[in-house]
Amino acid sequence: MAREVVLYIAASLDGYIARADDNLDWLTETESEGDAGYAEMYQSIDTVLMGKRTYDWLLEHTDAFPYPDKKCYVFSTTEKGSTDHVEFVNEDVLAFTRKLKEEDGAKIWMVGGGGILDAFIKHHLIDEYIITVTPHILGAGIPLFKANNPEIHLFLKESRRYGQFVQMHYLTTRDGN
Ligand SMILES: NC(=O)c1ccc[n+]([C@@H]2O[C@H](COP(=O)([O-])OP(=O)(O)OC[C@H]3O[C@@H](n4cnc5c(N)ncnc54)[C@H](OP(=O)(O)O)[C@@H]3O)[C@@H](O)[C@H]2O)c1
Repeated sequence: MAREVVLYIAASLDGYIARADDNLDWLTETESEGDAGYAEMYQSIDTVLMGKRTYDWLLEHTDAFPYPDKKCYVFSTTEKGSTDHVEFVNEDVLAFTRKLKEEDGAKIWMVGGGGILDAFIKHHLIDEYIITVTPHILGAGIPLFKANNPEIHLFLKESRRYGQFVQMHYLTTRDGN
C-alpha cells in the first residue's frame, strides 16, 4: 500500500498560513493546550517535504534544524544538491512524489508552504489534511488554498480543540486506505 502524504499545517480562520511578510507571531502567540497533536503526527512520519521559502524561514528562525531525524526534501528550482539535513529536489512534483509514496516506510509530512502545497493539492497528492485553525482573521497573507483547485470531497475523521486552536483532521477516503 502506498504511504500517505499528510498535510499538518496551521492557518488563520480566514485561511492564511503566514502574513505577507512571513510573520508567524499570530500563530506562535496563540494559547495552545499541549502540542496540538504534533508529537503524534511527527512519530507517524519518516519523511518531510517543504518548499524552499519555508526551508529558508526555518533556517532563519530556529537555532537547530528541527527535523534532523527525518529524510527531508526541499523543492527548489534554484538550489541543488544537499546539506547535512536536506536534499533539494527539482523534479516533476507528481512523478517524484508518486515514486516516494511507493517506497517502503512511514507516512510523509507535507510541511508547506503555500507555493509547493498548491502543486500537491492540484495533483491530488495529499491523503490526510490536518488543519489547525487559530482565532485570527488576518485579512491578507499567504493563503493555504490558492485559486482553481479541483473539487475534493473529504471525510472528517476527527475535530479537536487545543486551547484557542481548533484542529480538523480529514481523510480523502472514508477508511483512510
Ligand atoms: N502556518 C504554517 O503552519 C506554515 C507551514 C509552512 C510554511 N509556513 C510559512 O509559509 C511561508 C512560505 O510559503 P510560500 O508559499 O511563500 O513558499 P513555499 O511553498 O515554502 O516555497 C516556495 C518555493 O518552493 C519552490 N517550489 C515551489 N513549487 C515548486 C515546484 N513545483 N518545483 C520545484 N520547486 C518548487 C520554489 O523555490 P525556488 O524559488 O528555489 O525555485 C518556490 O519559490 C513562510 O512564511 C513559512 O513560514 C507556514
